[in-house]
Amino acid sequence: MDYSDLLKKAEEAREFAYAPYSKFKVGAALLTKDNQIFTGCNVENSAYSSTMCAERVCIYKAVSQGCREFTAVAVYAGLHRAAPCGECRQVLAEFGTDILVVMGGAEGLMVKSVKELLPFSFTMKP
Ligand code: THU
Repeated sequence: MDYSDLLKKAEEAREFAYAPYSKFKVGAALLTKDNQIFTGCNVENSAYSSTMCAERVCIYKAVSQGCREFTAVAVYAGLHRAAPCGECRQVLAEFGTDILVVMGGAEGLMVKSVKELLPFSFTMKP
């Protein structure tokens, strides 16, 4: 699967975003090493801090179904090329700093590794 196909899945997942408060809809699609795709969208809450980002939704879906090895995640938030927030970067780093993050928007596609997006990330490994 190429990056633009994964981004297309993120764009499709964005349709399900529940964002009545910010009106900022985000979709994400996570590619596993065995070529499965898990999608996610942001799910907001009237108690704002209970909101969950699209990226973490797809990661938690995958992990809760037994998948822990990921190749890439695509994020799509419309014309504005959004990058994952700090918390999502930390959650991605838990599963590998070599995971590629594909970000799309009007400016075109950008691909960065989790390592590049979150250098010197926290780890309990010595
Ligand atoms: N959001 C995401 O889905 N992913 C991010 O990486 C950052 C922000 C969502 C959360 C909230 O529903 C909306 O975007 C505005 O912050």
